[in-house]
Order: sequence, then structure tokens, then C-alpha cells
Amino acid sequence: MAQSRKDDHIRLAAVQQEQLADTRNAFDDVDFIHHALAGINEDDVDISAQFGPWTIPAPIYINGMTGGTDTALPINRALAQAAAATGIPMASGSVAVALEQPETAGSFTVIREHNPDGIVWANLGAGRTLDHAKAAVDLLAADGLQIHVNPIQETVMPEGSRDFGQWLGLIEDIVAGLDVPVIIKEVGFGLSAKTIQQLYDLGVRIVDVAGSGGTNFARIENERTPHPSNAIDVHAKWDWLEPMGLTAVDCLLEMARVPTDLTVVASGGVRNPLDVVRAQALGAHAVGLAGAMLRVAMSDGAEGVTEVLNLFKTRIRQVYALLGAANARQLRATDVIITGTSAERARARNID
Ligand code: FNR
Repeated sequence: MAQSRKDDHIRLAAVQQEQLADTRNAFDDVDFIHHALAGINEDDVDISAQFGPWTIPAPIYINGMTGGTDTALPINRALAQAAAATGIPMASGSVAVALEQPETAGSFTVIREHNPDGIVWANLGAGRTLDHAKAAVDLLAADGLQIHVNPIQETVMPEGSRDFGQWLGLIEDIVAGLDVPVIIKEVGFGLSAKTIQQLYDLGVRIVDVAGSGGTNFARIENERTPHPSNAIDVHAKWDWLEPMGLTAVDCLLEMARVPTDLTVVASGGVRNPLDVVRAQALGAHAVGLAGAMLRVAMSDGAEGVTEVLNLFKTRIRQVYALLGAANARQLRATDVIITGTSAERARARNID
């Protein structure tokens, strides 16, 4: 069951990507005011970024996606080879399946095999114990652990767990007991300032807002169930839940409401290097790519992902130069205007 679900996720996420690359999303509400004489020399730009304890060569990382199936293995190998070639950090998909079915572990350990010296994060869902977390980290000799909090996805998934009540306590145990950093993330519905504060109070110091506008797991889960064949089945669908959630832009506009000694990274719907720079200008320390890299890994393998990651690095540096930002700190001081739905939603939450 878990295997066929994971293969469904890969297949349906790849289809979504074909539409998303050209679709408007909340990042289009973030505009840099163009100052034609602000530019600096490209050689004077440093795009390295600080992601919690890790200094990374560019402000991007490959977010947690897959593992556990025969289809996932070559995808993880391609992503890991590209991560090794570029120095970009990479997370695995949820390793829960490998803890329960050790024969699937090879589709995850391939990540470490092909990237022995890089930054690798293991991934698990909330609701798992400290022992699970330790086993997940050991499996990949991981530098950190991503824990995804995905209540909308669990609600919509036929085989999902709706026992959300233990999540906070279990996260607290893991943060206190694990000897590598913990990153808490959503899976594409965003983390509000209130949620981030709850996590901070438990000791969490790195969060990935993983907002909406990119891969949509409510839609993926709806598409996994067959087309309704009668008037009653129509009501079994959850399509009305698909628009729920916060975009990465919504979340980043709330940054002033979260503690400052917290690393906030952003992902969800990042299509191109400008989206990366937009998220950074709003305060994200680094920016994650999932579905967009999945699509390249499936079509063009490790070489394709390497080429695209290198292209992102070059273009990010070029955008910094045209904006006159020599580094991430200066980028945060650039003039940005927020319009459209993101501005309206910020006003409705009394954010100025
Ligand atoms: C995901 N994502 C995900 N996240 C996670 O924490 N654990 C997981 O196992 C998975 N699995 C997964 C499978 C596939 C096929 C995709 C495309 C994505 C979610 C991912 O990390 C990210 O939060 C969302 O995909 C939103 O980012 P993008 O795709 O819009 O860049």
C-alpha cells in the first residue's frame, strides 16, 4: 500500500509540475522596485547562505520527496549525484517505510552512497518517536532530520492518520533527544507564525514554511481516487480542501511575528531563480525546490539536475548583481512591493 501510494505521488506530482511551471502563484505578488543604477559587479556577489549550522554555496536545497520503491531509487540516485556535484543539500523522502520494511532501505541509502560528504537530511512524519528519529538519522548517516507536519494531507489520504494530538509532545522529545538539528516542515500548506511560535517553544530552531502554490497534496490525494461514477461518490471527494493553506509569501510576511534566533527557510511553488531571490528578500535564509527538481530528475537524470542547479546558482548571482545586493543581508534591504492576493491576505491579518 505504502509503495503504490509513493509511486502515485511521484507520477501525479510530475504531472502537476508540467502545469505549475507556467502558472502564476504568490511569488508573482512580490516585485522588486527596479532601480536602474543600483547594480554592482557580478564578481562582487556572494550567494552563499547560512542554513542553521550549515554554510551552503547557494541559497537553495533539494527538499524531501521520495524513497521506498523501485521508481524512487533512480530518482534519489540522480538527485544525490547532482547534490554531490553542486554542494547543494538534499533531503530524503519519508524513511518511515524503510524502518518498517528494511528491504526498501536501499532506495534511501543510495542518497548517502552517491553523496558521501554532502549535507543530507533524513525525513520522517510527525507522530514518530525519538527511537524512530534516531533510526532515520542512522540510516542515512544524516546531518539533520526533517520532520513533516502534514495534517491536511493526512486528512485527505484514505490511509492517513488523524491522530494529531500527540504530535507536539513527540516533536519535543525528538528535539531534546536527537544529536543532529531538527527541521520542521509542512508539505505544501504553510506554517503560520502561531505554529512557528509553538515549535520554537518546544526548542525547534529551524523551520521550513513549505507553503502552497506548488505541489498540492490535497489535489494529488484526490486524483489518486478514481473518478466519481455516481452522484454520491462526488461527495466522497475532498476537492474543496485543495485551496486551504498559506503560501510561502503569506508565511514570510509574518516573519516579524516570530523569534529572531530562528532559521526560517521557505519552499512551496518555487519555479525559478527569481522566486528564490524573492523569498530571500522577504527573509528566508534558504529556499527549497521539490517538484521542479523531481521533474528534471525524471526527464534528464543526474546530469540534468546538475545543470539546472548550476543554472540556478548563476542566475541567482546575476539577479543579486542587478539588484545591487552583494550578499543575503544586503538583499533583505532591497525595496520590495507586495501586491495582489498576498497584500490583501496580509492586510486581513493586520500585517503591515
Ligand atoms: C513531497 N514532499 C514531501 N515532504 C516531506 O516532508 N516528506 C515526504 O516524504 C514528501 N514526499 C513528497 C513526494 C513528492 C513526489 C513531492 C513532489 C513532494 C513535499 C515537498 O518536500 C514540498 O514540501 C512540496 O512538494 C512543496 O514544494 P514544491 O514541490 O512546490 O517545490
